[in-house]
Amino acid sequence: MNKTKEIVNSAKPLVGIIMGSASDMPVMKEATAVLEHFKISYEVRVLSAHRTPQETAQYAVGAEKNGLKVLIAAAGGAAHLAGVAAGLSNLPVIGVPIKSKSFEGMDSLLSMAQMPAGVPVATMAVDGAKNAALFAVRILATQDTRVQKLLQEYKFNMRADVLEKAKSVNVRKIL
Ligand code: RP5
Repeated sequence: MNKTKEIVNSAKPLVGIIMGSASDMPVMKEATAVLEHFKISYEVRVLSAHRTPQETAQYAVGAEKNGLKVLIAAAGGAAHLAGVAAGLSNLPVIGVPIKSKSFEGMDSLLSMAQMPAGVPVATMAVDGAKNAALFAVRILATQDTRVQKLLQEYKFNMRADVLEKAKSVNVRKIL
């Protein structure tokens, strides 16, 4: 028997998208687009681990109590935001390392991925905002049958799209 129920009709945002700077938003729009596709309520906050540490801590500490189920944290360079959020809250934290000017995101990726044992951050690819949102969708789908169905539909459509585009490329030449 399927015991999952619908949690996504909640009046409160379920996904908190936090980012170190407003300059991260062009990348993170890919995440908001996915959440809108799945009709999952979210909120976006610019919060920096270094520039606004008090506000960041207040947000992360209160996130669970405020009804959020998942945090997506994006930052570039010395990208400590996701790690700080994971340290201060018990929610799953998905990290998006933002491509940086100096090292093309390698600094962001390593800062985010190399977390100490005990404090996990699910780190995506550099600028991987779309997958971050899809990962959040998968987490929420474990508790919500409507999201499960939409996820199945999303995967079905993606497969159909790839197979359709492949038709003009796939070839076998016997010479
Ligand atoms: C990080 O520094 C931000 O997450 C951003 O990716 C990067 C650059 O920030 P700005 O100088 O554009 O504000 O904290």
